[in-house]
Amino acid sequence: MDTFGETHTPAALPVAELHLHIEGTLQPELIFALAERNGIELPYKDIDELRAKYEFTDLQSFLDLYYANMAVLQTEQDFADMTRAYLQRAADAGVRHAEIMMDPQAHVQRGVPLAICVNGVASALATSEQDFGVSTLLIAAFLRDMPEDNAIDVLNQLIAINAPIAGIGLDSAEVGNPPSKFERLFRRAKDAGLHRIAHAGEEGPASYITDSLDLLDVERIDHGIRCMEDEALVQRLVKEQVPLTVCPLSNVRLRAVDTLADHPLPAMLAAGLNVSVNSDDPAYFGGYVDDNFRELVGVHDLSVGERALLAANSVRSAFLDNARKEALLAQIHRWEIASED
Ligand code: ADE
Ligand code: ZN
Repeated sequence: MDTFGETHTPAALPVAELHLHIEGTLQPELIFALAERNGIELPYKDIDELRAKYEFTDLQSFLDLYYANMAVLQTEQDFADMTRAYLQRAADAGVRHAEIMMDPQAHVQRGVPLAICVNGVASALATSEQDFGVSTLLIAAFLRDMPEDNAIDVLNQLIAINAPIAGIGLDSAEVGNPPSKFERLFRRAKDAGLHRIAHAGEEGPASYITDSLDLLDVERIDHGIRCMEDEALVQRLVKEQVPLTVCPLSNVRLRAVDTLADHPLPAMLAAGLNVSVNSDDPAYFGGYVDDNFRELVGVHDLSVGERALLAANSVRSAFLDNARKEALLAQIHRWEIASED
């Protein structure tokens, strides 16, 4: 309540979103709208029937639906509309900078030309700062359940068409597809001056985190929650302040943890790990960054200072220049002062 007796919604915590799959932002309503626009018949009669499928038992059960729903993305306009919808919602969630992954192989494999998906997403990102106040970077993520040669081929094509990518990532089915499978891909990306990140320790073992650092020379780890099973690794990650882009609601929905109350994020923060909060695939996992924070705070009672630290970690771990980082850190500081009770 303010001095005029009015209640205001508290301003959203300003953050950088570092772990976000753009295809995972396709909301059921947009899936149906794009299917209609493109004359595609969906295997669900309505939105409720689609939503009923969002009960996942593990990562693979989600990936099956995630890849199937991509069928509605056909034109540059489709990719641009999906991206703009995310940016609008992310801005409302407090996101001031977003490093966005897309899965080019998933589109090329189903016959959509590389330039269509890249140009569609990139056209929305190009005006994001002026339209939504969100600065952005694009990261091409490669599917670890596909052969490395295919990834290298697609990376070479991205470089050849001058795709505006800042880095590469590694996602999809983790277990059985270790980092060692992708050493040449990551070497090629480094030689091309690209940033490097990889999913590791989501469902896969802690050793995949170590191998991503040592064999792929990654700068950030996506998820990384299973590091908590290896004390020596935790010590190393703390010492090197390796960023871990944690996605609490995703981990619950994909059963990497049983409930939010069991989520290791508070313990990770207490251990001194460089963790941030992200949404992963918000259309599938029940929420955007603000929803992740709200639910975490509800269960774990994170203090204002802890929330500000998580936000500051996201900004410090972004592939941004120092001036933009300082400006965002100042916004977080102002939020902290205004939110202190
Ligand atoms: N692709 C999209 N979301 C993913 C996740 N959570 N893990 C691995 N690959 C993904
Ligand atoms: Zn992810």
